[in-house]
Amino acid sequence: MGDPTRGKTLFLRMCVMCHTYNKDERHKIGPNLFGVVGRTCGTTSGFNYTEPMKKKGVVWDEKNLNEYLEFPRQFIPGTKMVFNGIKKAEDRQDIIAFLLTLK
Ligand code: HEC
Repeated sequence: MGDPTRGKTLFLRMCVMCHTYNKDERHKIGPNLFGVVGRTCGTTSGFNYTEPMKKKGVVWDEKNLNEYLEFPRQFIPGTKMVFNGIKKAEDRQDIIAFLLTLK
């Protein structure tokens, strides 16, 4: 299991410039991520996703998030999430543990 406290610190460093995470917060460059775990990708209302993200049709569980966060443009070619990915497995695990608390 990852460490959600460390994951939040990492999120605030790497993701918060593009993503909000509290309930009903506005979308930024990326969609608000409240409740993202368990949701089908590309389905938050009010956000203009790319076609590849809408067509991917996966549910964001720990496995899919891990793959996406390691190398976004390999998991979803054509995604407009301009992010190179997180190389360290431990960092990904901790960020996912934090995302799991957003519900
Ligand atoms: C430079 C801005 C940017 C950064 C930094 C960024 N993202 Fe994103 N993210 C986006 C955009 C834009 C999308 C929508 C992509 C699309 O439609 O192709 C997205 C989509 C996502 C999705 C899919 C959401 C959904 O509703 O299906 C997740 C999950 C996600 N990002 C997590 C993260 C995490 C975790 C981090 C930090 C490790 C991060 N992102 C860093 C811009 C960013």
